[in-house]
Amino acid sequence: MLMFVLFFIFLGQVSYASVDPINFSFASFDSQSCGEDGDLICFGSAVAGNGFVDVTPRLQHTNGTSSSGNNVGRVLYKYPVLAWPATISTSFTVRISKDSNSTGSGDGMAFFMTRGDGPSPVNSYGAFLGLLNRTTNGKEGNMIGQLGVELDTFYNNEFDPDDNHIGLDTTSISSIVTASLNNIDIDLKLGREVKVKFDYDGWGKMLQISVAYAGAPLVSVLNYSIFMSKTVPSSVYVGFTGSTGIVSESHQILDWSFMSVPLPKYSLVDDQSGKAKKKKIMAITLPVVTGSFVLVICIYLMVKAYRDKSRRRSKGDLEIRSRNAVNAPKMFTLKELIKATQNFSKEKLLGTGGFGSVYQGTISDTLSSVAVKKISATSKQGEQEFLAEICTIGRLRHKNIVQLLGWCHERDHLLLVYEFMANGSLDRYICKGSLSWRTRYKILTGLASALLYLHDECGNTVIHRDVKPTM
Ligand SMILES: *[C@@H]1O[C@H](CO)[C@@H](O)[C@H](O)[C@H]1NC(C)=O
Ligand SMILES: *[C@@H]1O[C@H](CO)[C@@H](O)[C@H](O)[C@H]1NC(C)=O
Ligand SMILES: *[C@@H]1O[C@H](CO)[C@@H](O)[C@H](O)[C@H]1NC(C)=O
Ligand SMILES: *[C@@H]1O[C@H](CO)[C@@H](O)[C@H](O)[C@H]1NC(C)=O
Ligand SMILES: *[C@@H]1O[C@H](CO)[C@@H](O)[C@H](O)[C@H]1NC(C)=O
Repeated sequence: MLMFVLFFIFLGQVSYASVDPINFSFASFDSQSCGEDGDLICFGSAVAGNGFVDVTPRLQHTNGTSSSGNNVGRVLYKYPVLAWPATISTSFTVRISKDSNSTGSGDGMAFFMTRGDGPSPVNSYGAFLGLLNRTTNGKEGNMIGQLGVELDTFYNNEFDPDDNHIGLDTTSISSIVTASLNNIDIDLKLGREVKVKFDYDGWGKMLQISVAYAGAPLVSVLNYSIFMSKTVPSSVYVGFTGSTGIVSESHQILDWSFMSVPLPKYSLVDDQSGKAKKKKIMAITLPVVTGSFVLVICIYLMVKAYRDKSRRRSKGDLEIRSRNAVNAPKMFTLKELIKATQNFSKEKLLGTGGFGSVYQGTISDTLSSVAVKKISATSKQGEQEFLAEICTIGRLRHKNIVQLLGWCHERDHLLLVYEFMANGSLDRYICKGSLSWRTRYKILTGLASALLYLHDECGNTVIHRDVKPTM
């Protein structure tokens, strides 16, 4: 029996460590927080001290009226952070106190990401929450480049559901989506500490907001699918804004932690092309050979080809023959692959494993995207296994199996070139609940068809020890 035991290595499951995560946290605030040596910049009515930041002034009860209205405050983290491609998680505790001597309330506050580190727009008090003003509100083309998560405590009947909700604001103060907190028995403006958690999944493009009174377990209140790359610049400033109108309201931040973990560029691929379409089983293989007649012949032929080549010193011979064979894995020159991957730049690195590294590349003459697997010198995958891999999977042809396009063996470099599967591993989609049953069924039958091909139909039985599907 001819049998191959294959190990599969996958592009999706790897670490991308070229940019460090951004991670900061404030357990409390003091009067230095907004100063020269602090990490915050405060604008307008925002002042730090005594453990918290007052975004708008604390209430001053004198003669039954509260302090003057129309306040706007803004506080930003001093350094820009990465908004995309990244996964972002931030949580903070706020305390919002309405003036209980007044029947009305102030307007609210927001956590936000914005293009610049400048002050609030002129006349952005009241309903504008310090995010926009009459000039910029609702303008097409989004020159502002910001995303706000509003904690809205004032009912503007033109666009608000009530006076106690969460909403997402981009180009307009009329939120793209809102969620009332009345449903989960939280009242924002009671002066109680409210904890808010914001999570953006850079793969799934899903923003999730959870809220609770401090100490209680967080409750998910909003899930919204949004392309961060189409909403804000890649590098943004993050912080808080708050405002009041005629009626005063105090908005305080008690703590804040923030984390942005960079993702590889190809996590943005949906942003450009919409939903994933291709579904293939990616089979970049790292075979350990148990013994095979075909393999022996294959190695023999390869070795012979190399010998002949060096004997006749006609380097291009095998290459020319390979080029001529339709669909046969092609021999690439090292130069071509260096060019395709920008000299194996970090930017192009898709992942690493025991065998070496995988890079994304573009072959200049066909402009096709490829994945280039560079086998490291220390890899257990030696020359023989390398040749075996070419022979084994080079001859496989199935629409659901990732195609080996070519190889390169030059100056001690061993390289394999595959079709590039831009959408990454299937597991990114499968747990999100976004795949319809029809799609799931198609994936399963596609997988079964590929396995049947490998087991029964491709000539010599190929046994998988692991199959990794990718979209
Ligand atoms: C971020 O910082 C917090 C505390 O400052 C720490 O608990 C957490 O592990 C850090 N996360 C990363 C990814 O560095
Ligand atoms: C409070 O009332 C007193 C007397 O009526 C007045 O003199 C004072 O200016 C008032 N203060 C404020 C802040 O309105
Ligand atoms: C309401 O106003 C009065 C003064 O008119 C003040 O003494 C009282 O503290 C205020 N109530 C609250 C809850 O702030
Ligand atoms: C809105 O803000 C911009 C920038 O701060 C400012 O130039 C503009 O005059 C403001 N519009 C209004 C109506 O105040
Ligand atoms: C948001 O999605 C999560 C699963 O990812 C779910 O547990 C949660 O209930 C959802 N929240 C809302 C408000 O739909």
